[in-house]
Amino acid sequence: MIAIVCVDRNWAIGRDNDLLFHISADLKRFKALTTGGTVVMGKNTLLSLPGGRPLPNRRNLVVSTTLSPREGVEVARSIEEAMALAGEDAVLMGGARLYRALLPRCARVLVTQVDAAAEGADTFFPNLDAAPDWAAETVGEWQEENGLRFRYVDYVRRG
Ligand SMILES: NC(=O)c1ccc[n+]([C@@H]2O[C@H](COP(=O)([O-])OP(=O)(O)OC[C@H]3O[C@@H](n4cnc5c(N)ncnc54)[C@H](OP(=O)(O)O)[C@@H]3O)[C@@H](O)[C@H]2O)c1
Repeated sequence: MIAIVCVDRNWAIGRDNDLLFHISADLKRFKALTTGGTVVMGKNTLLSLPGGRPLPNRRNLVVSTTLSPREGVEVARSIEEAMALAGEDAVLMGGARLYRALLPRCARVLVTQVDAAAEGADTFFPNLDAAPDWAAETVGEWQEENGLRFRYVDYVRRG
């Protein structure tokens, strides 16, 4: 499993069950990387999507103990069940709780780093720069969209 996440300078990822930034180049990249495959997410992240609907053209696997069955969504009632259903090529797409739970099962994390400090953020990704078992493998060039600087950094598990 790999994880994809967009973080600010402080590794913040969300506020009020929404994203901190809307960078269309990043969303396009996410779509290209996940279309045709399986995405794994927590219930809050599903509910944060437009209309609370699953992402089209992908298998949407949602981890939740409370979510009632709904069209286009496969529900896993535990992390273990999610792992059993997900398959090796699944992409973990958040949110904070799911990242924390499944990061130990990920070999690679594709991070979009935004050069900003979002105000009022309430959800965070673990700081991989401070984690001894993770290393930045490739660091992309800074790019800019609507005045926001961002770059893609791929982290791999050491060893
Ligand atoms: N920046 C990014 O790249 C990015 C990506 C995705 C999301 N986000 C942001 O992250 C925030 C949401 O994160 P979050 O931590 O609140 O929510 P989350 O991880 O999406 O979902 C949490 C829910 O998932 C279920 N869950 C979690 N662990 C479970 C387990 N071990 N077993 C069974 N169910 C489990 C629980 O639902 P039940 O209560 O139903 O059991 C829990 O309430 C939002 O602000 C969103 O916009 C950011």
